[in-house]
Amino acid sequence: MSLPFMSAAEAAQLVRNGDVVGMGGFTPAGAPKEVPTAIAHMAQEMHARGEEFKIGIYTGASTGDSCDGELSRAQAISFRSPYQSSKDMRTELNAQHIHYFDMHLSELAQDLRYGFLPRPTVAIVEACEVNERGEIVPTAGVGIIPTICRMADKIIVELNEAMPAVMRGMHDIYEPADPPMRREIPVYHVGDRIGTDCVRVDPKKIAAVVKTNRPNEVGKFTPSDETTEKIGANVAQFLEDEMRGGRIPKQFLPIQSGVGNIANAVLKALGENPHIPPFTMYTEVIQDSVIGLMKEGRVTFASGCSLTIGADLLQDIIDHIDFFKSRIVLRPQEISNNPEVARRLGLITINTALEADIFGNINSTHVCGTKMMNGIGGSGDFTRNAYISIFTTPSTAKGGAISSIVPMVSHLDHSEHSVKVLITEQGIADLRGKSPIQRAHAIIDNCVAPEYKDMMRAYLASAKTAHTPHNLSLALAMHEEFLRSGDMRNTKF
Ligand code: COA
Repeated sequence: MSLPFMSAAEAAQLVRNGDVVGMGGFTPAGAPKEVPTAIAHMAQEMHARGEEFKIGIYTGASTGDSCDGELSRAQAISFRSPYQSSKDMRTELNAQHIHYFDMHLSELAQDLRYGFLPRPTVAIVEACEVNERGEIVPTAGVGIIPTICRMADKIIVELNEAMPAVMRGMHDIYEPADPPMRREIPVYHVGDRIGTDCVRVDPKKIAAVVKTNRPNEVGKFTPSDETTEKIGANVAQFLEDEMRGGRIPKQFLPIQSGVGNIANAVLKALGENPHIPPFTMYTEVIQDSVIGLMKEGRVTFASGCSLTIGADLLQDIIDHIDFFKSRIVLRPQEISNNPEVARRLGLITINTALEADIFGNINSTHVCGTKMMNGIGGSGDFTRNAYISIFTTPSTAKGGAISSIVPMVSHLDHSEHSVKVLITEQGIADLRGKSPIQRAHAIIDNCVAPEYKDMMRAYLASAKTAHTPHNLSLALAMHEEFLRSGDMRNTKF
């Protein structure tokens, strides 16, 4: 049997109105590019002819603009899960044109298998190698590839020649059995390999192979600034103190860190701290800073779901593939983010909040409680199961017009029960073993920006004494003031 090579436009014709499509990859790393764009163009042509065309989409996490951006602009999406970070998709889902359900990333593959969600009928995946035996080797991101390939009737492969086949051997593909047959996931150390180096499918299901040559659409790495550097330094200081106090073993524990500039600054600070030994990572996204630290010997191993790094760094990895293959493993998100494994390995988890409240509850997703930003991603998978869960945030946003710390979060993603430490550029609030009022004082004293401290204290003074003191008519007054005047500093308690 020979592989069915065809153009992206021809492959797009295999996708029909109403189909449920699973996309491979994780973040823009390894996400398909040319076929989704071709589907978007096909949708626009059909809409112009007055024909209906919308598909449901599952992905690993976010994708690149050629997938989520193009399909959103073409109004070609009926529903979407589990995570996105596209400006155009954000507009569409906040307008309720796309039904978006925000999920813990580790749960998507199993929820598909359990039949909780519509079955993906088509899988579109990027590969660096595909052959007649039905072996598909992913590229820089794995996501939900094993599950969508097994469940779909048709598989469309983008064979990306920009990602050479030497990447084979970097992946560890494993799908757990479902209850009641599930056993423990046998990852006992970050580098353990438990699966295969490729996804194996019935070759008859490979309906199209589209040759492409496209770099990943990973955005440029933004250098850290004074605020993110201070946050990074505070996290490193906290972990150094924990080690000194014997609360973290001297050989240290694996780090999970979120995405973005704060995460890069935190990792940089950990790398530079002479009291923190070389460490490993068991994380979701392996981003730029990890690669530098690996070359310096500060990170000894990284297990993740994707290499979300710029094209130059990816080329560097490809040029030194043996060095990196012995230090990096890419897993499906149900393993990289697995709660059982996170709890067993004892992860130190560091994620970013959009806002926190004075009692330690975290909103990672909704601006002013209503507008979706990106999604919860893997932050819940890790936070709830961490050895120590840390949340970071700059103490203010929008030039000080928003305090990232408020009396009550306007949306709840991570509750006070899961959050152990809150860190801003102002300082560190260790919430362990504290009652709500003690947490409120620790957060106001250490984390709130100076211009908001009195306001927060006035709020607490206005609240009736109780286990968790709130003044329900004023709990969201700072959000209301921001929506009214554009500046929370005008709030009166
Ligand atoms: N209220 C309203 N807007 C706020 C805000 C708040 N409390 N705090 C920040 N913002 C705005 C910022 O001003 C910025 O707006 P802009 O894009 O118009 O400039 C935007 O939100 C993003 O803020 P930024 O400081 O650039 O944050 P970031 O890139 O570090 O992202 C999250 C922060 C929370 C959105 C991001 O980490 C996320 O999506 N987290 C959830 C998923 C996750 O944790 N994944 C990792 C798990 S492995």
